[in-house]
Amino acid sequence: MRSVADRLASLVLAGLAAGTLGMLPASAAAPTAAPPAADLKSEGPTQPAKVQDGQYTDKNGDPTYHITEGGKKVDWYTMSGYVRYSANCLACHGPDGMGSTYAPSLVDALKGMDYAHFAGIVVGGKRDVNASQELVMPAFGENKNVMCYLPDIYTYLRARSDGAIGRGRPADHEAKPAAFEKAEDACMK
Ligand code: HEC
Repeated sequence: MRSVADRLASLVLAGLAAGTLGMLPASAAAPTAAPPAADLKSEGPTQPAKVQDGQYTDKNGDPTYHITEGGKKVDWYTMSGYVRYSANCLACHGPDGMGSTYAPSLVDALKGMDYAHFAGIVVGGKRDVNASQELVMPAFGENKNVMCYLPDIYTYLRARSDGAIGRGRPADHEAKPAAFEKAEDACMK
């Protein structure tokens, strides 16, 4: 029997390899026509290279944000990431990823951190043995409330880190993709 963490981690990596990052294999998702290039343009320094079922990825296949309307409108995954971050990470990392006396700012930490590195830390945790105060980042590999939304949380934090969105709840978001709901149901089972 493989642990839930192993299975979820390999799903995440399989998603990465397939360049889709959804929890479903690409074949299960309804085929969508590539949108015109203009629709891919985002505010912020990172530009999406591709969108599939409402999920944007950069040229390396890492999840990324799609922000429009002067920082007010975000893609669905950024919105979902905001909600999941607030529920699972805010207590230690502070509101809007700003950091606290206990845990570092993720707005800073995400600068230049790719998705695989991020996923590795969140799945396995991290412990700073050299700090005068013992700092522990818990391992979330068994926690579906985090693992089922890992690309979402990364996408949200990346938008914060890039300065593409400000603090607080995004004002507006793109529609919830049907593929998101399917993947969520499958993952949360
Ligand atoms: C119980 C408190 C706690 C919670 C909850 C928590 N973290 Fe952490 N996290 C920490 C601490 C403390 C560190 C610093 C550990 C270290 O330096 O070794 C850390 C480090 C990290 C790092 C590495 C930062 C760097 O500079 O390398 C990432 C990424 C991270 N956390 C993401 C998350 C995410 C995403 C969530 C929510 C799913 C989360 N954390 C929830 C306490 C927490």
